Amino acid sequence: MEKQELIREAIAARKRSYSPYSHFQVGAALLGRSGKVYTGCNIENAAYTPTNCAERTAFFKAISEGEKEFEMIAIVGGPAKSARTDYCPPCGVCRQVMAEFCDPKAFRVLMARTETDYRECSLEEVLPFGFTKEELQ
Ligand code: THU
Repeated sequence: MEKQELIREAIAARKRSYSPYSHFQVGAALLGRSGKVYTGCNIENAAYTPTNCAERTAFFKAISEGEKEFEMIAIVGGPAKSARTDYCPPCGVCRQVMAEFCDPKAFRVLMARTETDYRECSLEEVLPFGFTKEELQ
């Protein structure tokens, strides 16, 4: 799948953001090894703590549907009012969830402003020296 296509899916998912408290809308699109795309948006809550980020929504949808290997994720985020979005780095909790399921060197994280304007990092670059299941051996 083309990176631009994945970004397009993230932009569409952002429109479904439920963010009445922060007014910061985030969309994500996660590409599984099977070729299937799992989208997610941030889902906020009046109690704040139960808020789920767009990235984790996408991961949890995928895992719950049986997909466990992933190639890349596109993330698009920005204030609801703003016409354009800036590069949106995943939060620490989402990076930790990525580390559970993704290869640190191979998994790509695309932070996009538009379909063609994006920054690309490996998981290892966004989460160096992370705690993983290897530590539990
Ligand atoms: N948020 C995401 O969904 N993903 C990120 O990578 C950063 C933050 C959400 C959480 C919350 O609903 C809002 O953005 C402001 O933090």
